[in-house]
Amino acid sequence: MAKRISIHGEWTSHWGFIVAATGSAVGLGNIWKFPYITGQNGGGAFVLAYILSVLLVAAPALIAEVILGRRGKQSPIHTMQTLVREQQQSRLWVGIGWMGILVGFLILSYYSVIGGWALAYIPRLVSGLFSTVGSLPKEQATLFVQGTFTHLIEDPERLLLWHTLFMLMTMTVVARGVQAGLEQATRFLMPLLFVVLLVLVGYAMSTDKFMQGVHFMFNADFHKLFYPNCTPASCEFSGRGVLIALGHAFFTLSLGMGAMMVYGAYLPKHFSLLKATGMIALADVMVAILAGLAIFPIVFSNGLEPNQGPGLVFNTLPLAFGKMPFGSFFGGLFFVLLVLAAWTSSISLLEPTVAWMVETKKFTRVSATAWAGFFIWLFGLVTIFSFNIWSEVKPLSMFSSFANKTLFDLLDFITSNIMLPLGGFCIVIFAMWRMRSADILEELELPEASTRYKILRFLMRYVAPFGVLMIFLNAIGVIA
Ligand code: PHE
Repeated sequence: MAKRISIHGEWTSHWGFIVAATGSAVGLGNIWKFPYITGQNGGGAFVLAYILSVLLVAAPALIAEVILGRRGKQSPIHTMQTLVREQQQSRLWVGIGWMGILVGFLILSYYSVIGGWALAYIPRLVSGLFSTVGSLPKEQATLFVQGTFTHLIEDPERLLLWHTLFMLMTMTVVARGVQAGLEQATRFLMPLLFVVLLVLVGYAMSTDKFMQGVHFMFNADFHKLFYPNCTPASCEFSGRGVLIALGHAFFTLSLGMGAMMVYGAYLPKHFSLLKATGMIALADVMVAILAGLAIFPIVFSNGLEPNQGPGLVFNTLPLAFGKMPFGSFFGGLFFVLLVLAAWTSSISLLEPTVAWMVETKKFTRVSATAWAGFFIWLFGLVTIFSFNIWSEVKPLSMFSSFANKTLFDLLDFITSNIMLPLGGFCIVIFAMWRMRSADILEELELPEASTRYKILRFLMRYVAPFGVLMIFLNAIGVIA
């Protein structure tokens, strides 16, 4: 194979890649979403389904995506163009790259708004805004906390301010480039994230409900997972919980849009891909579980419900932080954690577009970041308005599966449930069914006859595409 090098530079070390890719993987998905979907789907059995999904479907898909990037050495569009030529395949496969850039654009436009909420909550907690709830009757306290959240999201100007700040933070890192930006920032931010998370878990351990949290996360009650809506009269089987776990495993490893592909493009040769992807997947699962262990004991010790839904973090936790000793400090720390996680993911959402613009030779990295960032920021207005002035705009309500979805709900649904799995499916199929297997072997650096290769090949060729297809079919309502 001709030796290709990335014009954007490479990670200075293997560690640089692992940390940056873990930064991409660990995001709002782990800390904001994982705890509430675990709460809604019955706890331990769901956690097990999620871990299995990561092992059997998402991690093999991650390997495939990184392989494409490392071989193509460019942004997803140019990487796919190069590979299509090298492997003599149809040019249609380049669509993977185009769709990736589009999805990155769309996801970042709302990811940044939610990252902005997390930013907005830091001063609210640190200033002790919620510390009065301890002295209020329960109902009034709940109303106060929920009112604070509603007040924020109903105010477009305020949302815009925080969204702007978050976008600027993301752009600052990406504009500095692969080594001075992405690598340096994640090298500093990720260890900080781990420390903050451990402090919060330590705090949760000191509450008397810690064991209840552990029990909730690890007690595998399969009945709850497979028969969620049981009444004494009827009990219906449902695979939904497993599909949610599968979809989440996929989202949380940042798959299907070229983020991991572009990070793979900056990876020097001769570094064990398998070890790296294993560590990324492990770190991602660990953070999700630790986040659950930090959150649930706090939820239980304050008599709150674990199955709150998306509001769990913003609508529920401040109530707990408001009541507990040093709550302003620990609460502030919690939202710092959320910001760190969102920030290191958002840079990986912007990088594929910026890399592509630089490769067209029409932009410097700084001007590419400025333009891409500006248009994503502008498109973020759709999400902002969907919480207030456009909250009644539900354009696809005539279709039952989109009923009652606001513009933000639609964006989230279409990108994470349809476009990402579709992109991910095409990526594994291209890598495992279209590329020469000798090339895949070369990238994996495994002997063809080894059991490890055989298992991996089976997972990557059959299990991963099947799993990703299931997520997609479930999303479009073909299977439930
Ligand atoms: N993995 C991120 C999270 O868990 C989300 C993400 C998806 C980031 C796709 C980049 C690309 O929040």
